[in-house]
Amino acid sequence: MQYDRRMGPSVRAALLAGFAVVFALWLLWGYQLVRSLRQIEQNVTSVHETYVRGEQTLSKIRTNVLLGSIYLRDALIDGATPRRESYRDELMRLRSEVETLVASYVAAVSSQDERDHWERLQTELADYWASRDVAFTDQAKTPNEAAALLRDRVVPKRETVLQILDQLAALQDVANARHQQEIDVLYRQVRTRLLTMGAGTLVVALMVAVMASRHVNRLQREIERQRRIERDNREDLERLSARLVDVQEQERRTLARELHDEVGQALTAAKMDIGIALRAELEPRVRSALEEARDLSDQTLRSVRDMSQLLHPSALDDFGLPATLTAYLRNFAHRTGIRAQLAETMETRLAPDIEMCVYRIVQEALSNIARHSGATACTVSLNSGGGMLRLIIEDNGRGVGLPANRLSSGRGLGLIGMRERAQALGGTFNIKPRDGGGTIVMVALPLEAATGAPAA
Ligand SMILES: Nc1ncnc2c1ncn2[C@@H]1O[C@H](COP(=O)(O)OP(=O)(O)OP(=O)(O)O)[C@@H](O)[C@H]1O
Ligand SMILES: [Mg+2]
Repeated sequence: MQYDRRMGPSVRAALLAGFAVVFALWLLWGYQLVRSLRQIEQNVTSVHETYVRGEQTLSKIRTNVLLGSIYLRDALIDGATPRRESYRDELMRLRSEVETLVASYVAAVSSQDERDHWERLQTELADYWASRDVAFTDQAKTPNEAAALLRDRVVPKRETVLQILDQLAALQDVANARHQQEIDVLYRQVRTRLLTMGAGTLVVALMVAVMASRHVNRLQREIERQRRIERDNREDLERLSARLVDVQEQERRTLARELHDEVGQALTAAKMDIGIALRAELEPRVRSALEEARDLSDQTLRSVRDMSQLLHPSALDDFGLPATLTAYLRNFAHRTGIRAQLAETMETRLAPDIEMCVYRIVQEALSNIARHSGATACTVSLNSGGGMLRLIIEDNGRGVGLPANRLSSGRGLGLIGMRERAQALGGTFNIKPRDGGGTIVMVALPLEAATGAPAA
């Protein structure tokens, strides 16, 4: 599967858009919820207020009408003129109170049927209040006359008014029930709308979630694939490095043997031949030439031996690691002028591949000290413990820079080679600036389980 890089941003944009839509939908949903609740609340309050106001108005009219009847009866019974005036005033007050109340209430009535009833009520009330005048026009009345008046003219009017009031109360009940129904319908509508919106939002959210999880899955698969490729590459590289080290060792061994066996033998033979020739009677000029040739052969033989030793330290096999290292350090100090000492060592013989690994790492580390550190002294120490062999090489030079510590940033192969050798034996390699200046190289190798190493 080739991962399409353009897919990333577009999927991300789609996901962002999806999340934005879900968020916006939830916001809208919340807004609708609050608005609808407010609407329902307003409706309920207004219905309740209208109902209560209607009830209060009706009750007040009923009370005033009944009170009016009582005052009228009292006025008829009570013959004294001054008191009749106070009854009249009282009746006037009751009337104007009722009229004001009715006028303000009727203005707010919306139903035509109810309005008709209220108009009828207003007419009947006007008649009713007019009927009270009989008590004040005819002066003196006998109780029988007063009772007849009440019975014939006042009571029927009052009954009519009370009937209309009852009808209005019934109408109000009906209107109230209708309003309740309207509120129920509104509530159902709001509920349906909110449920629909909620379901829609949920569907969008699910779609976004599915998209997101598919995207994450794809990314995860891609990461896995990259990881596999990286691991394969690393394994290939490790195999290649190990093989390189191996081939290098074999090459060096072959070269060392060639030098030692072929060139060394030939030079030795030449030197012996020159020795035989020198035993004869010779002209001084020839003798001196032959002596020069013998010295040259000697010198070349030593160089060949040194080279052979550098290429493949056969001394390792013969004398072991401490002796070989000591000789190498002495040689190094002699060549470079940098003091070098084996500070700590161990006498037990180690596996040949470990000894060769340690020797090669010391070789490269010392060569780095000579080339890069500017140090005046260095120490090599070797010790073991806990099944591990620890090699430490320190110098008092300028110290390795941090990038070199990362092994991969420099162009050199020395550090890489050292690490490869250590890792090939299951060990670790580390190089870092030393506390107090200089560089420290630390290698740890398991003493057992050394495998796959290029043996010398
Ligand atoms: N003892 C040291 N002191 C100071 N710098 C060091 C030391 N050892 C290594 N370095 C730094 O680390 C770098 C990498 O070393 P490395 O041995 O890998 O490469 P090189 O010596 O430059 O080349 P090569 O070893 O391949 O011939 C060096 O170039 C040097 O800057
Ligand atoms: Mg180097």
